[in-house]
Amino acid sequence: MSDAYSVLVVDDEPAIARLLKRELESEVRTVRTAHTAQEALQEANKTDFDVAVVDIRLPDARGIDLMRELRAVQPDMEVICITGHGTIGDAVEAMRLGAYDYITKPFNLEEMELVVERAYQKASLRSENRRLRHAHVAIDDLIVGTTRPMEEVRYLLERVAPTDVPVLLTGESGAGKEVLAHAIQRRSRRSEAHFVIKNCATLQKELARSELFGHVRGAFTGALHNSSGLFGEAHKGTLFLDEIGDIPPEVQASLLRVLENGTYRPVGDKAQKKCDIRFIFATNRNLAAEVEAGHFNEAFFHRINVFTIHLPPLRERREDIPLLVEHFLRILPVGHGQRLQVHPAAMDCLLRYSWPGNVRELRNVIERGIILAERGVITLRSLPHELSAPPPVGEASPSERDEEESLKSLERAQIERMLELCGGNRTLAAQKLGISRKTLYRRLRTYGLL
Ligand SMILES: Nc1ncnc2c1ncn2[C@@H]1O[C@H](COP(=O)(O)OP(=O)(O)O)[C@@H](O)[C@H]1O
Ligand SMILES: [Mg+2]
Repeated sequence: MSDAYSVLVVDDEPAIARLLKRELESEVRTVRTAHTAQEALQEANKTDFDVAVVDIRLPDARGIDLMRELRAVQPDMEVICITGHGTIGDAVEAMRLGAYDYITKPFNLEEMELVVERAYQKASLRSENRRLRHAHVAIDDLIVGTTRPMEEVRYLLERVAPTDVPVLLTGESGAGKEVLAHAIQRRSRRSEAHFVIKNCATLQKELARSELFGHVRGAFTGALHNSSGLFGEAHKGTLFLDEIGDIPPEVQASLLRVLENGTYRPVGDKAQKKCDIRFIFATNRNLAAEVEAGHFNEAFFHRINVFTIHLPPLRERREDIPLLVEHFLRILPVGHGQRLQVHPAAMDCLLRYSWPGNVRELRNVIERGIILAERGVITLRSLPHELSAPPPVGEASPSERDEEESLKSLERAQIERMLELCGGNRTLAAQKLGISRKTLYRRLRTYGLL
């Protein structure tokens, strides 16, 4: 995680508060400590905290009451309770009241750090959703995902967005290229200027030049007025040319000229026009191969391939699926703000499926699942048949990689089931699975279950 965030540690034992501060504080994490509920509330009135770690037993209040008061001040905050053996009942109650997790003393610092990190991710997702809804910004601009490849995407995005460099977004259909284009535009210096979007697949060969570059009156039959074209509209702003692989070959050379010296010529005009446009391109094709095959202008390809961001298909970042599901459950209007849950067996299906339509398909499946949910739970029956059906017979035997994937999802399912059986008690679940608590934590982290 690259974002900086703040943690509040509340424990009446100064030594523990100090230890946690020392262990948790890092380049991205600021930690403040308080020893009483009163001090904690004072801190929360001064600073925005993303996560609070609260001892369930404090000298001046119950941890549960403090949790409630903290969330009244800062609703997006996630709270983790620390509990001793005598207060497990309180911890369970805290969970019921919306605590993120509880940790029993004596705690393992590595485990504590993991839980804090995970709680932060949840808190930041929620506050981002809220902010977007509040700002009336399309919620579609939010890029959800914490896997390594998505962290890389985010890193590149943050770096390139404020520049005027043309960006090429590649990836399968539904992988999130358009979402990313919006995110770039929003973070750019041109965020207040026009953002013009054109799907090149819909450009008609004969009219493509005029639609892009505009025309002067009388340039061709039917050209009754001057038209400024998409370039005129996007001047001083951003132009997103989606499916650039489908752009008619005739206009590739003209686009190349725009990229090289910022000038173009409207149809029927003798004079060149200057433009100031930031370009974003996207394609689901392999343009290098198309160049090789002589189907795409090589010079144009090199000019747009300066800064490329590749969005990996969803099946290569399955650990993002639970977070995406949570995100869609929250934002999709069919949910009417109710708190829906996904049954572990259904989640297992979602994790195993190959997602040829990527995030778009997942979004559609969740939308359908919300409608078909049974008593607030998305079950196997709420999912489309193809998700739970075994792959068709006669398919090529699975590669070693697929086998490994399916072993992993079996293991994951087993862990999830055991946790469910043990009512979320990780120590017990680890015992029953015959692995150490540490190994269980490592697995939980791998599978994005923490
Ligand atoms: N990383 C993501 N986080 C949240 N939603 C996403 C993400 N990627 C894709 N989506 C969702 O999937 C849909 C399809 O994404 P889109 O950007 O249109 O894909 P592409 O342009 O690559 O075909 C979007 O409307 C959005 O709801
Ligand atoms: Mg698209």
